[in-house]
Amino acid sequence: MNLVELRNLKKVYENGTVALRGINLEVKKGEFLGVMGPSGSGKSTLLHIIGGLDKPSEGEVRVFGRDISSMSEDELAELRRRRIAYIFQFYYLLEDFTVLENLTIIGELLGIKEPKKKALEILSFLRLSHRINHKPYQLSGGEQQRVAIGRALMVEPFLILADEPTGNVDSKEGEKIFNLFKDMNQRGITFIVATHNEELRPFFSRIVYLRDGQIIQEE
Ligand SMILES: Nc1ncnc2c1ncn2[C@@H]1O[C@H](COP(=O)(O)OP(=O)(O)OP(=O)(O)O)[C@@H](O)[C@H]1O
Ligand SMILES: [Mg+2]
Repeated sequence: MNLVELRNLKKVYENGTVALRGINLEVKKGEFLGVMGPSGSGKSTLLHIIGGLDKPSEGEVRVFGRDISSMSEDELAELRRRRIAYIFQFYYLLEDFTVLENLTIIGELLGIKEPKKKALEILSFLRLSHRINHKPYQLSGGEQQRVAIGRALMVEPFLILADEPTGNVDSKEGEKIFNLFKDMNQRGITFIVATHNEELRPFFSRIVYLRDGQIIQEE
């Protein structure tokens, strides 16, 4: 089953910049897909559109079998909130709240049962049990990135979109984060990860290379 289908996807920003020029792509359930390419090639734009954070200028975007242009604002919000999780390069953690609270707040917003219990389980899985009462500024970059991943896991998403998730950590920590993603992938979560980091290529089940808004190669 295809979780994502893009047909002739184009994106022209309001200032006239052409970011995507006719992308065709299918992503199957269970894939661990890398999106690679130089700065400005359109990786983030592609992820934003798949995640419903931005709209295409032309073409078709189907996510979980539904054309997103036919979805109401409520349906889109539901998609973003419950089915797709986004992990950004910059963590956007709530600075005044502890690690534990950063996760439980998401669970409370979603109305899940026992958000604290679930948050504690996820933080243990992420090797953060010893940091639950710390605030984000008291953490290393890698720890902050793991908290951001923890927030994504609170949603129990089907699909995780990660945009340069290892952009701010050293290569050893980057590898640990990818090993974690692999674990999560084996538990059934599909991943689409944008990165320039060549060292991470062996992790992907498939890679598409973008250049100047087009897919120039797949492997
Ligand atoms: N909001 C915006 N308005 C106008 N142009 C934009 C906007 N966001 C991105 N662009 C442009 O669209 C193109 C693709 O940008 P995008 O951010 O998707 O690239 P990227 O591959 O993610 O790059 P990086 O590796 O640097 O993150 C670039 O030319 C960029 O300048
Ligand atoms: Mg980017």
